[in-house]
Amino acid sequence: MITPGNAAPSRMLEAPTIRQHSLTLGKNSRSQIKSQKPLILWMTGLSGAGKSTVADRIEHRLWQCGHHTMILDGDNLRFGLNKDLTFTDAGRVENIRRTAEVAKLMLDAGLIVICSLISPFRRERTEARQLVGADEFLEVFVDAPLDECMRRDPKGLYARALAGQIPNFTGISSPYEPPDAPEIHLRTDMADVDTLAGQVLDELRRRGIIACVP
Ligand code: ADX
Repeated sequence: MITPGNAAPSRMLEAPTIRQHSLTLGKNSRSQIKSQKPLILWMTGLSGAGKSTVADRIEHRLWQCGHHTMILDGDNLRFGLNKDLTFTDAGRVENIRRTAEVAKLMLDAGLIVICSLISPFRRERTEARQLVGADEFLEVFVDAPLDECMRRDPKGLYARALAGQIPNFTGISSPYEPPDAPEIHLRTDMADVDTLAGQVLDELRRRGIIACVP
């Protein structure tokens, strides 16, 4: 029986109340005045693998070439947009979803967007990819063995997680699902940050996304 407090059935019968508004300018016109192809570089990997460090170097080198970029860093977003989210599976799913939606908006603004977050689940990374065109999303696996990340432990979080002080810690008490077929695979335990950033920029050149050699 439908009661006044149960709004779901009547909502389903209603005609939609919102629709897409068509705009004069689109992604192409916005990116044309920046002379660049918009792109999302999605960097995934364990905490301590080096995502933020490499993302920062890539952005700097793109900027030196005159490209307009933005970094969406998982840690930083959790101070604002995502500050209400936890590190439970559900919290991470929502973290990835919001970050992907923001990245899509920035892509529409014509930017080269570098997302740097653990994003441990394959399904949500695939959903992020599916929000945009096939040639607009490159997955970058920022790969370092768990032992190496634990040895680096730049924020002391692995030690605290192993001591049982941080629940749901990726690699310790929460899973990390590595990408099956990332477009770019960086081994951060085998090369320095400039070499790794160079590897990404080479791939962008190979794909015709950038032309310059910073
Ligand atoms: S994600 O899994 O939801 O994508 P995100 O990249 O936003 O994670 O945040 C990861 C950062 O939060 C880590 O670099 C680490 O500094 C911090 N952190 C705090 N608690 C955890 C936890 N339980 N697991 C992983 N990282 C954590």
